[in-house]
Amino acid sequence: MEPCEFPHIEDQLAPILGRHGADATRLLQILRDVQDHFHFIPPEAIVCLASHLNLSRAEVEGVAGFYSFLSLTPQGEYRVLFSDNITDNMLGKTELMQYFCNKLWVEPGKVSEDNLVSVDSTSCTGMCDQGPAALVNGWPLTNLDNNRLDLISELIRIKKPVAEWPEMLFEVRDNIRRPGMLLGDEFEPGAGIRAMLARGAEATLKEVDASNLRGRGGAGFKTASKWTFCHAAIAEEEGGMICDVGGNPERFIVCNADEGEPGTFKDRVLLSSHADLVFEGMTVGARVVGARKGFLYLRGEYRYLLKPLEAVLARRRAEGLLGENILGEPGFAFDIEIHLGAGAYICGEESALIESLEGKRGRPRNRPPFPVTKGYMGRPTVVDNVETFACAARIAEKGGAWFAAMGTAQSTGTKILSISGDCARPGIYEYPFGVTVETILRDCGAEDAHAVQVSGPSGTLVSWQEFGRRIAFEDLPTAGAFMVFHRKREMFAAAHNFTHFFAHESCGFCTPCRVGTQLQKRIMDKIAGGHGTPADLEELKHVGHILGTMSHCGLGHTAANPVLDTLKKFPGTFERKLKALSFEPAFDLDGALQTARSITGRDDEWAHLL
Ligand SMILES: Cc1cc2nc3c(=O)[nH]c(=O)nc-3n(C[C@H](O)[C@H](O)[C@H](O)COP(=O)(O)O)c2cc1C
Ligand code: SF4
Repeated sequence: MEPCEFPHIEDQLAPILGRHGADATRLLQILRDVQDHFHFIPPEAIVCLASHLNLSRAEVEGVAGFYSFLSLTPQGEYRVLFSDNITDNMLGKTELMQYFCNKLWVEPGKVSEDNLVSVDSTSCTGMCDQGPAALVNGWPLTNLDNNRLDLISELIRIKKPVAEWPEMLFEVRDNIRRPGMLLGDEFEPGAGIRAMLARGAEATLKEVDASNLRGRGGAGFKTASKWTFCHAAIAEEEGGMICDVGGNPERFIVCNADEGEPGTFKDRVLLSSHADLVFEGMTVGARVVGARKGFLYLRGEYRYLLKPLEAVLARRRAEGLLGENILGEPGFAFDIEIHLGAGAYICGEESALIESLEGKRGRPRNRPPFPVTKGYMGRPTVVDNVETFACAARIAEKGGAWFAAMGTAQSTGTKILSISGDCARPGIYEYPFGVTVETILRDCGAEDAHAVQVSGPSGTLVSWQEFGRRIAFEDLPTAGAFMVFHRKREMFAAAHNFTHFFAHESCGFCTPCRVGTQLQKRIMDKIAGGHGTPADLEELKHVGHILGTMSHCGLGHTAANPVLDTLKKFPGTFERKLKALSFEPAFDLDGALQTARSITGRDDEWAHLL
């Protein structure tokens, strides 16, 4: 490999490249470490990495520019990102962030003059049950209030390394309020694998089939079908079958722990307290489909879980539950590697996740082919949600009929909900499928609620007239978010917040979504600013139709859901904000001419368009 032209940077990159083995598929992991070291990705590092990884500069820069936790411009030594979910906002996020900025003499979105600190917003950090929340250099801060922010600003001012900050600042509680068969029942590591080995892989697949387990990541695809397709798939490359060293066709198991949907945090809890169940499910899946390697794709916001999860993996290896000849079964080999994301909601979409695993930008692929036939490195790959694997472990242990006895006929088993917003007891609740919204609201202490956003912004807004509806694939499917809104809340604020989320998270690949999410956001900003007219509501519906029908992937397809649902179910919240005019242009031409007026020193009547 040619040495790069910036030896001083190369010296600093050497340990990072040493850790990752100069492997281009680890580019994202490498860039994360570079960001930690320099507090940004210096242009010279891009040149050196391109040369070492045999990539073009544009490829490295493209990845570095894609993920919001990576920055191409210098950030403060302390980078504080406030979670911007609607629930954080309802708990005072905006005021707290301004308070913090005032204390540290820094403007939101900027770096302080001494380069010590930068403060900004970030999409939901998955701590909605203990918000307002933030990240400092990637580590989670919860339950923020003025007192905590006073302490944090003092720690920053005296330049105390984050690793030496008081532990209580980083405490993340599980808040399990209603445990069920996943979160409450005892589980002995290895029990699922032992039962599977006794029964055989094929018979175990039949149990998963009989359980009617459906994916918990949102779409609800039948897990047994996915595993069957993957097992049947033969990756063809250059006319031949791709085999591992043992001569078996290569397949992969991927656990999707990206959990970026605002208001969702149940995978965080499964991984922090029930990781054995998740890894066991992955191992069962690996045996069924014939995979030897698995990945856990962990969202960057949950980086604090990396070490504990690595420890669980190490213990499982020591106990013979991972590695070669698992539980003494000759030829049964499987191991799991953890990849960290870097702040991109789109990487939860399975094909974008695979791109990201391969070290690229998280851009959704064209489908078909689906990952089960052509996934990671072009090989058949199963991508399942954290909770799906946890369910699979239980099914392997206790059988399909046991599982199918819970829930409803079309939605078997239990569902873990992440409850936040206007309720007395936010946290994690596990229910058999079929539970009504009303029951959940009663359990979590939500009084006078008039709406619930089920399954996050991409899901469904449920109004008080619909509280008899059920959490189930046949009624209200959900990946887990359940955000409660009191009747005093203006639902416009939630829809407005969600349009900002989608505009920020659109990957920009296809025009309907790239432009549509921006248009939607601007129209909502205009209405929020008191300039909306009935014509804007029509425009929102039009943009929503384009997003829903013409976008390339699920993000675009669902990006207009909150606006369209709110328009339909809470029209008054929009109408109260409208001007009586029938039209006002979205672009304020007179406002845009202000710079020209300042430069020319003219601000008289004739310098205005009005
Ligand atoms: C924009 C977008 C984000 C997604 N985020 C997640 C996620 O964070 N976790 C997840 O399991 N599935 C997510 N999905 C769904 C995945 O594409 C995929 O369907 C899922 O991981 C399959 O697992 P399952 O069958 O166990 O549900 C997302 C989909 C889209 C379109
Ligand atoms: S719909 Fe949005 S997120 Fe999906 S590919 Fe298009 S631009 Fe990217």
